[in-house]
Amino acid sequence: MIELKNAKKDFGHGENCTHALQGIDLHINEGEFIAIVGTSGSGKSTLLHILGGMDKLTSGEYRFNDELISNYSFNKLQEFRKQYISFVFQNFALMNKYTVYENIEMPLLARRIKKRKEIIMDCLDKLGITDLKDKCPTQLSGGQQQRAAIARALAADTPIVLADEPTGSLDNKNSNDIMNCFEEILRKGRTVIIITHDMNIASRCQRIIHIEDGIIVDS
Ligand SMILES: Nc1ncnc2c1ncn2[C@@H]1O[C@H](COP(=O)(O)OP(=O)(O)OP(=O)(O)O)[C@@H](O)[C@H]1O
Ligand SMILES: [Mg+2]
Repeated sequence: MIELKNAKKDFGHGENCTHALQGIDLHINEGEFIAIVGTSGSGKSTLLHILGGMDKLTSGEYRFNDELISNYSFNKLQEFRKQYISFVFQNFALMNKYTVYENIEMPLLARRIKKRKEIIMDCLDKLGITDLKDKCPTQLSGGQQQRAAIARALAADTPIVLADEPTGSLDNKNSNDIMNCFEEILRKGRTVIIITHDMNIASRCQRIIHIEDGIIVDS
């Protein structure tokens, strides 16, 4: 489903250039549950952003179902994301002006999904944040915001869920609940790729991709 060939991503130019991805070759099948691990600054978030169509490669190829995504314009990438991708950002990226409920509803509206209330209430319940549904993100703790961001990604029910350290702000019980949620959507045939620093979390995935200095050292 996903194929990266000699994928490179630079930030900046000349002396200030950072080679964040330095030639990644990667194949990911539909239905896989993958953890990306590596030290801080190794390129994990950059790789996830590329996979999610949030950013473009400097060189190399990204194919999705044999379509050459790396040639897409930013407009076409937006359509690609809407159809296929839910993304849980490292900094959550919730909309502060809207309630938790409204934040979760947004991708459902964008995808013209019906019976939204039922879907949203189910996700709120699974993540244990039903009582927070009318609060705004600024009124929530970090862990609560993280669970709201994950609820938003799960509710959208896209084929692919990408999550940047989805359990980074959570205690063991909540981390476990979130892994259970991911396992549930995997059973529906979804593909889940997460970044984590927690080897207990990574070991629950089917495959671990280890990246250092923008290169895959093990997968
Ligand atoms: N928008 C950007 N502009 C300039 N440099 C960037 C940008 N995003 C990332 N980088 C650089 O690219 C490299 C990889 O960053 P990335 O965010 O992918 O690391 P990471 O593995 O996710 O780290 P962490 O575990 O700390 O989140 C770093 O050296 C970082 O400074
Ligand atoms: Mg990161």
